Amino acid sequence: MSMQPGAPTRRLNVHELRRMKERGEPIAVVTAYDATAARLVGAAGVDVVLVGDSLGMVVQGHDSTLPVTLEHMIYHSAMVRRGLTRAGARAHLVGDMPFGSYQASADEAVKAAMRMVAEGAVEAVKLEGGSDYAEVIRRVVRAGVPVMGHIGLTPQSVHKLGGYLVQGKDVDRAQALLRDARALEAAGCYAVVLECIPTELARVITGQLGIPTIGIGAGPSCDGQVLVLNDLLGLDPSFSPKFVKRFAELGAEVTGAVGRYVGEVRAQTFPAEEHVFHAASVRLVPVAEDLDEGREDLPGVVGAPV
Ligand code: KIV
Repeated sequence: MSMQPGAPTRRLNVHELRRMKERGEPIAVVTAYDATAARLVGAAGVDVVLVGDSLGMVVQGHDSTLPVTLEHMIYHSAMVRRGLTRAGARAHLVGDMPFGSYQASADEAVKAAMRMVAEGAVEAVKLEGGSDYAEVIRRVVRAGVPVMGHIGLTPQSVHKLGGYLVQGKDVDRAQALLRDARALEAAGCYAVVLECIPTELARVITGQLGIPTIGIGAGPSCDGQVLVLNDLLGLDPSFSPKFVKRFAELGAEVTGAVGRYVGEVRAQTFPAEEHVFHAASVRLVPVAEDLDEGREDLPGVVGAPV
Protein backbone atom coordinates (compact mmCIF):
# COMPACT_ATOMS: atom_id res chain seq x y z
CA MET A 1 0.00 0.00 0.00
CA SER A 2 1.56 3.33 -1.02
CA MET A 3 1.38 6.19 1.49
CA GLN A 4 -0.26 9.41 0.25
CA PRO A 5 1.70 12.52 1.22
CA GLY A 6 0.09 13.94 4.34
CA ALA A 7 -2.01 10.80 4.86
CA PRO A 8 -2.30 9.70 8.47
CA THR A 9 0.04 6.85 9.46
CA ARG A 10 -1.67 3.46 9.64
CA ARG A 11 -1.52 2.41 13.28
CA LEU A 12 -0.96 -1.08 14.64
CA ASN A 13 -4.19 -2.54 15.99
CA VAL A 14 -5.17 -5.38 18.28
CA HIS A 15 -5.55 -7.84 15.38
CA GLU A 16 -2.07 -7.09 14.05
CA LEU A 17 -0.59 -7.61 17.51
CA ARG A 18 -2.17 -11.06 17.61
CA ARG A 19 -0.81 -11.83 14.14
CA MET A 20 2.64 -10.78 15.38
CA LYS A 21 2.35 -13.49 18.05
CA GLU A 22 1.27 -16.03 15.43
CA ARG A 23 4.25 -15.12 13.25
CA GLY A 24 6.61 -15.23 16.24
CA GLU A 25 7.48 -11.52 15.85
CA PRO A 26 8.44 -10.02 19.23
CA ILE A 27 6.37 -7.01 20.32
CA ALA A 28 8.30 -4.02 21.72
CA VAL A 29 6.33 -1.99 24.28
CA VAL A 30 7.52 1.04 26.24
CA THR A 31 5.85 3.58 28.49
CA ALA A 32 5.59 7.30 27.75
CA TYR A 33 3.94 10.06 29.72
CA ASP A 34 4.26 13.22 27.61
CA ALA A 35 4.43 14.43 24.02
CA THR A 36 8.22 14.73 23.83
CA ALA A 37 8.78 11.18 25.05
CA ALA A 38 6.02 9.91 22.74
CA ARG A 39 7.63 11.60 19.73
CA LEU A 40 11.00 10.03 20.58
CA VAL A 41 9.75 6.48 21.25
CA GLY A 42 7.41 6.68 18.24
CA ALA A 43 10.32 7.63 16.00
CA ALA A 44 12.28 4.67 17.42
CA GLY A 45 9.68 2.31 15.94
CA VAL A 46 8.16 0.90 19.12
CA ASP A 47 5.06 -1.27 18.49
CA VAL A 48 3.00 -0.29 21.53
CA VAL A 49 3.18 2.77 23.79
CA LEU A 50 1.72 2.38 27.26
CA VAL A 51 0.70 5.42 29.28
CA GLY A 52 1.34 3.53 32.50
CA ASP A 53 0.06 4.55 35.89
CA SER A 54 3.75 4.14 36.79
CA LEU A 55 3.66 7.88 36.06
CA GLY A 56 2.56 8.19 39.69
CA MET A 57 6.05 7.10 40.67
CA VAL A 58 8.33 8.29 37.87
CA VAL A 59 6.60 11.60 37.02
CA GLN A 60 4.64 12.56 40.14
CA GLY A 61 7.20 11.28 42.66
CA HIS A 62 4.86 9.11 44.75
CA ASP A 63 6.05 5.82 46.21
CA SER A 64 3.19 3.88 44.59
CA THR A 65 0.75 4.13 41.68
CA LEU A 66 -2.24 4.46 44.01
CA PRO A 67 -2.66 8.27 44.00
CA VAL A 68 -3.01 8.42 40.20
CA THR A 69 -6.49 9.53 39.12
CA LEU A 70 -8.53 9.06 35.95
CA GLU A 71 -8.06 12.77 35.20
CA HIS A 72 -4.27 12.36 35.41
CA MET A 73 -4.39 9.37 33.05
CA ILE A 74 -6.54 11.22 30.53
CA TYR A 75 -4.30 14.30 30.72
CA HIS A 76 -1.10 12.32 30.07
CA SER A 77 -2.67 10.02 27.46
CA ALA A 78 -3.81 13.01 25.39
CA MET A 79 -0.26 14.44 25.48
CA VAL A 80 1.21 11.12 24.37
CA ARG A 81 -1.32 10.87 21.55
CA ARG A 82 -0.26 14.32 20.27
CA GLY A 83 3.42 13.33 20.38
CA LEU A 84 2.80 10.09 18.46
CA THR A 85 0.74 11.92 15.86
CA ARG A 86 3.47 14.52 15.43
CA ALA A 87 6.03 11.74 14.94
CA GLY A 88 3.78 9.99 12.40
CA ALA A 89 4.23 6.92 14.58
CA ARG A 90 2.40 3.65 13.86
CA ALA A 91 2.47 2.60 17.54
CA HIS A 92 -0.69 1.26 19.17
CA LEU A 93 -1.56 3.40 22.23
CA VAL A 94 -2.75 1.86 25.52
CA GLY A 95 -3.64 3.72 28.71
CA ASP A 96 -3.76 2.32 32.22
CA MET A 97 -7.03 2.36 34.14
CA PRO A 98 -5.94 3.89 37.47
CA PHE A 99 -6.67 2.54 40.95
CA GLY A 100 -10.31 3.15 41.88
CA SER A 101 -11.59 3.60 38.31
CA TYR A 102 -12.72 0.02 37.64
CA GLN A 103 -12.74 -2.00 40.88
CA ALA A 104 -16.09 -0.89 42.29
CA SER A 105 -18.37 -1.88 39.43
CA ALA A 106 -18.47 -2.83 35.76
CA ASP A 107 -20.59 0.29 35.08
CA GLU A 108 -17.90 2.57 36.48
CA ALA A 109 -15.24 0.65 34.56
CA VAL A 110 -17.12 1.10 31.28
CA LYS A 111 -17.55 4.84 31.86
CA ALA A 112 -13.87 5.29 32.81
CA ALA A 113 -12.65 3.25 29.82
CA MET A 114 -14.82 5.30 27.47
CA ARG A 115 -13.36 8.54 28.84
CA MET A 116 -9.84 7.16 28.31
CA VAL A 117 -10.70 6.57 24.65
CA ALA A 118 -12.79 9.69 24.00
CA GLU A 119 -10.67 12.24 25.94
CA GLY A 120 -7.29 10.52 26.27
CA ALA A 121 -7.34 9.24 22.66
CA VAL A 122 -5.99 5.80 23.57
CA GLU A 123 -6.93 2.76 21.48
CA ALA A 124 -7.13 0.35 24.40
CA VAL A 125 -7.00 0.29 28.19
CA LYS A 126 -5.04 -1.91 30.56
CA LEU A 127 -6.32 -3.04 33.93
CA GLU A 128 -4.82 -5.15 36.69
CA GLY A 129 -6.32 -8.36 38.04
CA GLY A 130 -7.20 -11.96 37.21
CA SER A 131 -10.41 -13.96 37.01
CA ASP A 132 -12.10 -11.67 39.58
CA TYR A 133 -12.15 -9.01 36.85
CA ALA A 134 -13.53 -11.23 34.05
CA GLU A 135 -16.99 -9.62 34.18
CA VAL A 136 -15.55 -6.07 34.24
CA ILE A 137 -13.38 -6.91 31.22
CA ARG A 138 -16.32 -8.46 29.34
CA ARG A 139 -18.38 -5.31 29.87
CA VAL A 140 -15.60 -2.93 28.80
CA VAL A 141 -14.86 -5.00 25.68
CA ARG A 142 -18.58 -5.19 24.89
CA ALA A 143 -18.67 -1.39 25.06
CA GLY A 144 -16.08 -1.35 22.26
CA VAL A 145 -12.87 -0.75 24.21
CA PRO A 146 -10.09 -3.36 23.82
CA VAL A 147 -8.62 -4.47 27.15
CA MET A 148 -5.05 -5.53 27.93
CA GLY A 149 -4.91 -7.62 31.12
CA HIS A 150 -2.16 -7.44 33.74
CA ILE A 151 -1.35 -10.24 36.20
CA GLY A 152 1.54 -11.33 38.41
CA LEU A 153 2.92 -8.37 40.33
CA THR A 154 0.03 -5.92 40.11
CA PRO A 155 1.30 -2.67 41.67
CA GLN A 156 -2.19 -1.37 42.50
CA SER A 157 -2.47 -4.31 44.95
CA VAL A 158 0.86 -3.58 46.61
CA HIS A 159 -0.65 -3.55 50.10
CA LYS A 160 -2.44 -6.88 49.54
CA LEU A 161 0.70 -8.44 48.05
CA GLY A 162 2.87 -7.12 50.89
CA GLY A 163 5.34 -5.35 48.61
CA TYR A 164 6.73 -5.33 45.08
CA LEU A 165 7.53 -9.05 45.12
CA VAL A 166 7.97 -11.74 42.47
CA GLN A 167 4.67 -13.67 42.14
CA GLY A 168 3.81 -17.29 41.28
CA LYS A 169 6.88 -18.89 42.82
CA ASP A 170 5.06 -21.89 44.32
CA VAL A 171 2.94 -24.43 42.47
CA ASP A 172 -0.42 -23.24 43.83
CA ARG A 173 0.22 -19.59 42.99
CA ALA A 174 1.64 -20.54 39.60
CA GLN A 175 -1.50 -22.56 38.81
CA ALA A 176 -3.71 -19.71 39.98
CA LEU A 177 -1.87 -17.32 37.65
CA LEU A 178 -2.27 -19.72 34.74
CA ARG A 179 -6.02 -19.91 35.49
CA ASP A 180 -6.13 -16.10 35.67
CA ALA A 181 -4.39 -15.79 32.30
CA ARG A 182 -6.89 -18.17 30.69
CA ALA A 183 -9.81 -16.33 32.30
CA LEU A 184 -8.55 -13.01 30.89
CA GLU A 185 -8.33 -14.45 27.39
CA ALA A 186 -11.83 -15.96 27.72
CA ALA A 187 -13.19 -12.61 28.95
CA GLY A 188 -11.95 -10.92 25.77
CA CYS A 189 -8.52 -9.43 26.57
CA TYR A 190 -6.44 -8.97 23.41
CA ALA A 191 -3.11 -9.19 25.30
CA VAL A 192 -1.88 -9.66 28.85
CA VAL A 193 1.04 -8.19 30.77
CA LEU A 194 2.91 -10.70 32.95
CA GLU A 195 4.83 -8.78 35.60
CA CYS A 196 7.59 -10.27 37.78
CA ILE A 197 6.85 -13.98 37.54
CA PRO A 198 9.30 -16.85 37.04
CA THR A 199 10.40 -17.25 33.45
CA GLU A 200 9.27 -20.93 33.48
CA LEU A 201 5.72 -19.91 34.36
CA ALA A 202 5.71 -17.14 31.73
CA ARG A 203 6.75 -19.71 29.11
CA VAL A 204 3.85 -22.02 30.04
CA ILE A 205 1.30 -19.17 30.04
CA THR A 206 2.60 -17.81 26.73
CA GLY A 207 2.37 -21.28 25.16
CA GLN A 208 -1.21 -21.79 26.34
CA LEU A 209 -2.68 -18.44 25.28
CA GLY A 210 -3.73 -17.41 21.78
CA ILE A 211 -3.31 -13.73 22.75
CA PRO A 212 0.14 -12.10 23.11
CA THR A 213 1.83 -12.01 26.51
CA ILE A 214 3.90 -8.90 27.25
CA GLY A 215 6.52 -9.52 29.93
CA ILE A 216 8.23 -7.28 32.44
CA GLY A 217 10.46 -9.29 34.71
CA ALA A 218 8.98 -12.45 33.17
CA GLY A 219 11.81 -13.65 30.97
CA PRO A 220 12.37 -13.98 27.23
CA SER A 221 9.57 -16.45 26.32
CA CYS A 222 6.86 -13.79 26.38
CA ASP A 223 5.54 -12.59 23.02
CA GLY A 224 6.67 -9.06 23.83
CA GLN A 225 8.53 -7.02 26.42
CA VAL A 226 7.64 -3.80 28.20
CA LEU A 227 9.86 -1.45 30.17
CA VAL A 228 9.25 1.87 31.85
CA LEU A 229 10.96 4.48 29.64
CA ASN A 230 12.70 6.23 32.54
CA ASP A 231 14.18 2.88 33.63
CA LEU A 232 15.55 1.87 30.23
CA LEU A 233 17.03 5.35 29.80
CA GLY A 234 18.72 5.18 33.21
CA LEU A 235 17.11 8.44 34.33
CA ASP A 236 17.19 7.37 37.98
CA PRO A 237 20.61 5.83 38.71
CA SER A 238 19.42 4.80 42.20
CA PHE A 239 16.72 2.48 40.74
CA SER A 240 18.09 -0.75 39.29
CA PRO A 241 15.82 -3.78 39.81
CA LYS A 242 17.02 -7.11 38.36
CA PHE A 243 14.58 -7.07 35.41
CA VAL A 244 15.60 -3.65 34.08
CA LYS A 245 18.32 -3.22 31.50
CA ARG A 246 19.56 0.34 31.16
CA PHE A 247 20.09 1.10 27.48
CA ALA A 248 21.52 4.55 28.33
CA GLU A 249 22.69 6.51 31.36
CA LEU A 250 20.67 9.65 30.74
CA GLY A 251 20.38 10.52 34.44
CA ALA A 252 24.13 11.14 34.64
CA GLU A 253 24.07 12.83 31.20
CA VAL A 254 21.33 15.25 32.28
CA THR A 255 22.99 16.13 35.60
CA GLY A 256 26.30 16.65 33.79
CA ALA A 257 24.75 18.85 31.09
CA VAL A 258 22.83 21.03 33.56
CA GLY A 259 25.96 21.28 35.73
CA ARG A 260 27.93 22.57 32.71
CA TYR A 261 25.16 25.12 32.02
CA VAL A 262 25.22 26.33 35.65
CA GLY A 263 29.03 26.66 35.41
CA GLU A 264 28.83 28.73 32.22
CA VAL A 265 26.13 31.05 33.58
CA ARG A 266 28.26 31.68 36.66
CA ALA A 267 31.42 32.17 34.57
CA GLN A 268 29.44 34.41 32.14
CA THR A 269 30.63 32.35 29.17
CA PHE A 270 26.99 31.64 28.24
CA PRO A 271 25.32 33.23 26.32
CA ALA A 272 28.19 33.64 23.83
CA GLU A 273 28.22 35.80 20.70
CA GLU A 274 26.43 33.10 18.63
CA HIS A 275 23.43 33.14 21.02
CA VAL A 276 22.92 36.91 20.93
CA PHE A 277 20.47 38.99 18.84
CA HIS A 278 21.59 42.35 17.38
CA ALA A 279 19.60 45.34 16.16
CA ALA A 280 21.94 47.36 13.94
CA SER A 281 19.60 50.35 13.50
CA VAL A 282 18.99 50.84 17.22
CA ARG A 283 20.83 53.75 18.82
CA LEU A 284 20.80 54.58 22.50
CA VAL A 285 20.10 58.25 23.24
CA PRO A 286 18.61 60.06 26.22
CA VAL A 287 14.76 59.99 25.96
CA ALA A 288 12.57 63.06 26.48
CA GLU A 289 11.26 62.16 29.97
CA ASP A 290 14.76 61.52 31.28
CA LEU A 291 15.95 64.85 29.85
CA ASP A 292 12.96 66.59 31.57
CA GLU A 293 14.05 65.03 34.84
CA GLY A 294 17.62 66.12 34.21
CA ARG A 295 18.70 62.45 33.89
CA GLU A 296 20.84 62.75 30.76
CA ASP A 297 22.87 59.81 31.98
CA LEU A 298 19.99 57.33 31.30
CA PRO A 299 19.94 56.05 27.72
CA GLY A 300 16.61 55.43 25.91
CA VAL A 301 16.06 53.51 22.68
CA VAL A 302 15.18 55.05 19.30
CA GLY A 303 15.08 53.50 15.87
CA ALA A 304 13.43 50.34 14.57
CA PRO A 305 14.85 46.94 15.44
CA VAL A 306 16.06 44.99 12.38
O1 KIV B 1 2.30 1.29 34.84
C1 KIV B 1 3.12 0.74 34.08
O2 KIV B 1 4.06 1.35 33.56
C2 KIV B 1 2.93 -0.68 33.81
C3 KIV B 1 4.02 -1.41 33.13
C4 KIV B 1 5.20 -1.52 33.99
C5 KIV B 1 3.57 -2.73 32.62
O3 KIV B 1 1.93 -1.22 34.17
